[in-house]
Amino acid sequence: MAKINVGLGERSYDIEVAAGALASTALFKQFIGKGGALIITNETIAPLYLQAVKNCLEWLEKCEVLILPDGEQYKTLSTLNLIFDALLAGGFARDATLIALGGGVIGDMVGFAAASYQRGVPFIQIPTTLLSQVDSSVGGKTGVNHPLGKNMIGAFYQPKAVVIDTQVLATLPDREFSAGMAEVIKYGFIYDAEFLAWLEVNIAGLMSRDWSLVETAIVRSCEIKAAVVEADEREQDRRAILNFGHTYGHAIEAHLGYGQWLHGEAVGAGMVMASELSRTMGWINEADHQRVVTLIARCGLPTKPPVNMNADAFMRYMAVDKKVAAGKLKLVLLHSLGDAVATAEFPPEALATQLAQLENA
Ligand code: NAD
Ligand code: GLY
Repeated sequence: MAKINVGLGERSYDIEVAAGALASTALFKQFIGKGGALIITNETIAPLYLQAVKNCLEWLEKCEVLILPDGEQYKTLSTLNLIFDALLAGGFARDATLIALGGGVIGDMVGFAAASYQRGVPFIQIPTTLLSQVDSSVGGKTGVNHPLGKNMIGAFYQPKAVVIDTQVLATLPDREFSAGMAEVIKYGFIYDAEFLAWLEVNIAGLMSRDWSLVETAIVRSCEIKAAVVEADEREQDRRAILNFGHTYGHAIEAHLGYGQWLHGEAVGAGMVMASELSRTMGWINEADHQRVVTLIARCGLPTKPPVNMNADAFMRYMAVDKKVAAGKLKLVLLHSLGDAVATAEFPPEALATQLAQLENA
């Protein structure tokens, strides 16, 4: 069992990582007050893990459940309303606790519901995908999608606790596991060369889900995410390094239509492109770049963008990120392996040349 503290003053909380955490009533007793709990999950996860969570909460006088449809397409304001409906119909007050049992879609939505129900109620994250265990459940980014943009409606709102049971990953499909690994290896590339070397040595064991290795990778990933969030909770600057590969990746996801490639798959190809540009800038050398490509491939992730995607398509979607960043496109580039920077200070022609080469690939 490991405990990682996210130190944010009065908004601080612990991430508890343990195989079998979902059988620990004592763990949950620490975090839930007298106002009862609403567990929110989806129709895929409910048959697998809802009973275990309910068993841990048997001592509560009031514990209700809301089961939502599964899928990114339901991460919307209208689904959010279903959460508010259940809270109001159930008579939940400001001392209620919301419990998010699921992947990043459930976690992001429940977090935003908690941020806004009666101007803020406590919530607990129980992430069940690798991606949500190492990334989305930590750091307080919550929200839903809008037809004009992903995650465009939301709030920074930290949970009271994150409870990670590594055993739930046993039922996660391989493709989702690989997508989560994109975020794990990202931490090695951007922050910790020693962790990167450990990942390279252990990648076969990790991909065959050697649970002891997987737990070590989750703990280190959460430690890094916690450190970055502590330094810059609201992404004024440093937190942006967590978006390594994401600007290219978002363009791929938007171009193909959300759900065609998983987020982690698009980030895999995006990290290769960001590494390539870092090499062009002379920040990393060819051998370093090849280490990036090899590790991404060994996670079963794409190392190239979709074949039908050209420079125009990239620029169209990357311009959206540019608007969001007040006029200047920022990319996360590697100063060296284990050290990234979010910067707008790269020659635009280097990016243009990189994207132009896609036409000839
Ligand atoms: P997801 O929540 O859609 O889960 C993927 C699929 O796996 C779903 O079908 C889900 O029902 C299923 N599933 C979940 N746990 C399972 C288990 N243990 N066994 C079997 N099936 C299981 O996707 P995700 O990759 O977890 O999260 C993606 C979302 O996270 C996106 O909406 C993205 O915007 C968001 N995100 C948020 C942050 C953040 O900082 N808040 C960071 C990264 C991503
Ligand atoms: N996933 C990026 C962040 O939390 O900032």
